[in-house]
Amino acid sequence: MARLDRFSLLVPLLGFLVLVVLVKMGSASSQMYPNATEWPVTNDEGLYMAYQDGGKWVNWWARDRPGVFSFFTKVAAITDMSNIPESTEALNEALPVREPYWIREPDRFGRPGIRATWLGHASVLAEVDGVSILADPIFSERASLFQWAGPKRYRPPACTVSELPESLDAVVISHSHYDHLDYNSCMDLQRRYGDRLHWFVPSGIGGFLRDSIGVSAAQVHDMVWWEEETLPGTNVTVAFTPNNHWSRRGLMDENDDLWGSWSVLGPQNKFWFGGDTGYCDGFVQIGRKYGPFDLSAIPIGAYYPRWFMKWVHVDPSEAIMVHKDLMSKKSLGIHWGTFKLTKEYYLEPREAIQELAREDPLVGADAFQTVNIGETLEA
Ligand SMILES: *[C@@H]1O[C@H](CO)[C@@H](O)[C@H](O)[C@H]1NC(C)=O
Ligand SMILES: *[C@@H]1O[C@H](CO)[C@@H](O)[C@H](O)[C@H]1NC(C)=O
Ligand SMILES: [Zn+2]
Ligand SMILES: [Zn+2]
Repeated sequence: MARLDRFSLLVPLLGFLVLVVLVKMGSASSQMYPNATEWPVTNDEGLYMAYQDGGKWVNWWARDRPGVFSFFTKVAAITDMSNIPESTEALNEALPVREPYWIREPDRFGRPGIRATWLGHASVLAEVDGVSILADPIFSERASLFQWAGPKRYRPPACTVSELPESLDAVVISHSHYDHLDYNSCMDLQRRYGDRLHWFVPSGIGGFLRDSIGVSAAQVHDMVWWEEETLPGTNVTVAFTPNNHWSRRGLMDENDDLWGSWSVLGPQNKFWFGGDTGYCDGFVQIGRKYGPFDLSAIPIGAYYPRWFMKWVHVDPSEAIMVHKDLMSKKSLGIHWGTFKLTKEYYLEPREAIQELAREDPLVGADAFQTVNIGETLEA
C-alpha cells in the first residue's frame, strides 16, 4: 500500500482496473468454447474429467452461459432485494455469531465422529474421524484483491486463525475466487502452522501457495478431479471431485486454475465440501463413487438473478438436488449470510432451504439445515 501512495498517478488507473476485476468477479466472460461438441471428456469409469483447451480449463456445463455483454445490459435493471440491515443490533438478532468449539486433544483419533462448524461464508472447519480440515478459509474484512475495495463482510467470522484448533491437519480450497482463496487468511495459517499443515488445492493453485504464501512444496497437494491422496499420518483419504464453476483472480487468468469440490473419506465417516457451484450431473457421479456422505457442506446463497447466476451458483432448490445426488445423510447450508455478492433477500437462502427440506418427504427438516455462524452440525 505504501508504494501505491508514492505513485499517486497510478492510483486512478489501478482503481479502474480493480473496478473491472470486481465487476467481473461476480460475472463471467463471454469466452466461447468452439469444440464443445467433443465434450464432455470422461475416463474409463465414465466419470467427467477436467479438460484443458488452449491452457484454460473448460467448464462444459457452462457452455451456454450468457456473455458479459448481456450481464452488463441486464444486471443494472435488477432490483436489489437484499435488504441487509444497517444496524448491528438487527444483524446480531437475525444472524448471531457464536463462539465455536472443537473436539480437543488428547485422544482425537480415538473419537470417531463427524462434525462441521460454520465459520461464515463458505468457511467450514470439518472434524472427520479425528482429523481437522479447514475449507475455503476467509477471515478478512473484504473478499477482494485489496482490503480497501470489494465486497465487505456484514457478519464477522466465528473466530480468528489464532483461535482455530491447535491440531488442524489440512486446508482444502475449492477455487481461486477471492471469497474462497484469501491471501491474508492463507498467510496467517502459514505463519501459525507452517509445515504442520497440508494444503489440498485445485490444479494451478499450488503455485500460488508456494510462491505467494511460502508453503513448502511437500505440503502442497495440487490435484485434478478424481485424484485421491491420503492425508499423511492418518487413514483419511482426500479426493478432489467435480463441481460446476470457474476461476479468476486477475484480468487475464480466467480458468487458468481448476475448480471443484472435496470428498473427505475417513475410515468411519465421509464429508463433502461443495465450495461454490452451479448445478450439474457430476454430483450423481460423486454420490455413486463415494456416497453416501455422512455430512455435506453445500452452498445455498448468491443465486439471484437466476438467468445469469444459475450457471455458477445453485439456488436452494438445486442445493436440495445436490444433497440427494450425493446421498448425503445430513447437509449444512453455506455460502450465505456473510458477504453481499448478489441481490436476493439476505435471509432468503436460510428460509428457503428450511421450507424446501421440511416439505420434501425424501429430505426432511433435520437432513438439510443451516446453523448460526460459529455453530456446529453433527452427524
Ligand atoms: C479445437 O479442435 C481443433 C481440432 O481438433 C484443435 O486444432 C483446436 O486447438 C481445438 N481448440 C480450439 C480452441 O479451437
Ligand atoms: C490407521 O489404520 C491402521 C490399520 O487399521 C491402524 O493400525 C492405525 O492406528 C490407524 N492410524 C490412525 C492414525 O488412526
Ligand atoms: Zn466462485
Ligand atoms: Zn463464492
